[in-house]
Amino acid sequence: MTTYATSAALDYLASGHQPPDALPAADPLRLPPVHKRYPSAARQVLPPPPDDPRHDELLPCLSWLLHRTNGLTRMRWMSGIMPLGLGAPAARRVLLSPGRTGAASGSRYPVEVYVAHPDHDGLPAGLSHYDPVHHVLERLREGDGRALLTPLLAEPPAQEPEFVLLLSSVLWRNAAKYGVFGYRLLSLDAGVAVAQAVAAAEATGLTARVHPRYDDAALDETLGLSPFAESVFAVVTLHRPDSPRTSATPATWRGQIPSAKPDPVPITKIPALAEVAALHAAVRRAAPEGSATLPPLPDAPRHALPPASLDVADGFAGRRTVYGYRPGPVPQQTLAALLAAAAEPVVDGTPVQLAGAVQRVPGVETGAHLYDAAGHALVATRGADAVTAVITAAKSPMLADECRTATAVLAPCGDLRTGIERFGDRWYRAQNIAAGAAAQRIALAAAAAGLESHVHCDFDPEGVRSALGLSAGPLQPLVLVTVGPRAPHRTDPQLPLRAEGGVN
Ligand SMILES: Cc1cc2nc3c(=O)[nH]c(=O)nc-3n(C[C@H](O)[C@H](O)[C@H](O)COP(=O)(O)O)c2cc1C
Repeated sequence: MTTYATSAALDYLASGHQPPDALPAADPLRLPPVHKRYPSAARQVLPPPPDDPRHDELLPCLSWLLHRTNGLTRMRWMSGIMPLGLGAPAARRVLLSPGRTGAASGSRYPVEVYVAHPDHDGLPAGLSHYDPVHHVLERLREGDGRALLTPLLAEPPAQEPEFVLLLSSVLWRNAAKYGVFGYRLLSLDAGVAVAQAVAAAEATGLTARVHPRYDDAALDETLGLSPFAESVFAVVTLHRPDSPRTSATPATWRGQIPSAKPDPVPITKIPALAEVAALHAAVRRAAPEGSATLPPLPDAPRHALPPASLDVADGFAGRRTVYGYRPGPVPQQTLAALLAAAAEPVVDGTPVQLAGAVQRVPGVETGAHLYDAAGHALVATRGADAVTAVITAAKSPMLADECRTATAVLAPCGDLRTGIERFGDRWYRAQNIAAGAAAQRIALAAAAAGLESHVHCDFDPEGVRSALGLSAGPLQPLVLVTVGPRAPHRTDPQLPLRAEGGVN
């Protein structure tokens, strides 16, 4: 086992990783914009996303996939329950804000999506940026360079992918609000986008593979990114299940990347973010090979769950954040389907263990459990007092209130410390990406099952670890998702947005 004497990620675990006592509620109008554009780039209008994602032609599939991965899918009327907490109505601020299928910490949406594509139905081959506001592709480079990208992946796919999605993070977009804590959120947010891309691709009939390790410098350079302003956090290769199309012409990119708006803001210029810059530099250094396994489940009472399944893509239309639940019963079958779907691994070699406190599920003991995905069973880790212990570990009144009314407070967990010690600093980001993906799958599965959800980082990690009965082992809760039945007064109105084909 390799151990690393000095580690930016281990330092970060003790400092920036820990949530501040109160998450800031910054004025959105004074924060950096959440959309990037290339004003001088040629623009390719995308067809409207089809009603049925399993379309015969690939361009409508790509349109649907990009819209579900990072597009604007709804308008949110935010009455001010968030972000100012459950205060008096007079103190609440009202905001009308576009939302997406994926959750995003503080609505900062740091992820940008780029796609390398062959020529398709009038779309010439190229490297493009997805502009979610106009639902168009901004053409950054001409030519089919997919075969130039795949050798940059640590584990290149055996067959040439149909599309290569490059998911980047704009560091300042998030760090402007959250400071050093922002890198943890950026990693989780990237995981949310990864889960969206994978679930959307599968709904179109493509198969998806996530690549957390690659030549960072070369990929950032290919996209013309200034790596301490914006950097690739994950790559997803998308494959046709039938005959893969290999490019007929030699792989090439032509042209210079046009300049983008807003101007990039490298975090190296911001002294208060020195710790984030050090961590980002360490994460980008070459990562050693290897994949982790989860610690064995404890020898404790087990509860076999009934067979049940659901399709997370059925949650795309309904997934949204709510601020509390109707404290009514939820059938065991529903919990079983949700856990089975949410626990499906998204990032190979970076496993996530689901844990959680469960209440008001007839037939299931109230208390904390680990979910045994292989055996489709709950393994008890703490009794009914786990629910109050989780409430105590909440760092916001909103989370505490949700924990009281939620059916389940679910925690994607990982062993960050051992992973970093064995595999190096990049593990910190890879494990959080995998946890963010699991959180988004929980939220999608909840919506598919007719339940509501809210992703949280405003909790004391040690407090939740103890509340879930995990203190004796190495697992740490990386993010929380509360899940429960809809309570109308804890939900803001939402209007679906439809991309009527791209707008130039
Ligand atoms: C990684 C992550 C962390 C989050 N942490 C919190 C949190 O600590 N507190 C909170 O109230 N909401 C949190 N959220 C929820 C976001 O604020 C919410 O997703 C965002 O406002 C967008 O709204 P939507 O989910 O309805 O699309 C988090 C979301 C994500 C993805």
